Amino acid sequence: MINKAVLPVAGFGTRCLPASKAIPKEMITIVDRPVIQYVVEEAVAAGIRDIVLVTHGSKSAIENHFDKHFELEASLEAKGKHELLEELRSVVPGDVNIISVRQSEPLGLGHAVLCARPVVGDHEPFAVLLPDVLVDCEGLERNDLAGMLDAYERTRRSQLMVEEVPHELVHKYGIVDTGGEVPGPGESRPLAGVVEKPAVEDAPSDLAVIGRYVLTGRIFPLLAETPPGAGNEIQLTDAIESLRQAEGVDAWRMRGRTYDCGHQLGYLEAILAYGRRHPRYGQGFRELLARYATEE
Ligand code: G1P
Repeated sequence: MINKAVLPVAGFGTRCLPASKAIPKEMITIVDRPVIQYVVEEAVAAGIRDIVLVTHGSKSAIENHFDKHFELEASLEAKGKHELLEELRSVVPGDVNIISVRQSEPLGLGHAVLCARPVVGDHEPFAVLLPDVLVDCEGLERNDLAGMLDAYERTRRSQLMVEEVPHELVHKYGIVDTGGEVPGPGESRPLAGVVEKPAVEDAPSDLAVIGRYVLTGRIFPLLAETPPGAGNEIQLTDAIESLRQAEGVDAWRMRGRTYDCGHQLGYLEAILAYGRRHPRYGQGFRELLARYATEE
């Protein structure tokens, strides 16, 4: 059973400025809750119980969001606002632990994951979820993360969630080489390689790593010796390529959709997708959409 998920949230969010100047980019609201809450809900829905935030001193709003707010709860209780109280309390179910560790220097995603080593240890598999990306599994019985965790349980091999992206965008992602065999949705295939942000003409495929991983503990000693790569940062992708050479890694093709909330248009699309089906605001929002669609 995979119990732990590492969520790197220490980055400054320069792509989301000015929104992210004084609040963490992970706290930007999609309809009625911050981006990070969707990502934690995704992990919890897949059966994960320990959420390890790799964070920075300037981003304590994230830890506060998942902490109990005693005074607020007492005040809602006194006012008889029980529904709202229940909603707040369900943000972190009773059997879920939010743990945080600090990344004191911005040395890259690989370094951020390495900061979780004392909490995760070298002997158990764990998940990594990048909170810029929302994975929408509306209509599926189980979410894609749960499907990928199952693939790990069956194969005992690390898994990278991938989706096809337009060819001209491959330079923005980790790109996998599946030896010409593209896995079908919900299937995995052994990797023949993975490369971080290749030039469009060098990309081995159009299958991009979208920010959900299941990794064995063997990744930590590999990360510890990974030199800086693309962008002069310690890249998780480079350590995964070493892991692949040591014990094999699979690409798991997702079935849902992604929204890149580290980018303004991705974040607006997420609002459209989640807003129009929201149980409380969906109908009103759909009316607004219809009105704006016909206005010049
Ligand atoms: C990171 C990873 C990259 C992955 C991407 C998904 O890049 O390094 O392999 O494809 O997330 O969003 P970043 O977007 O942080 O540059």
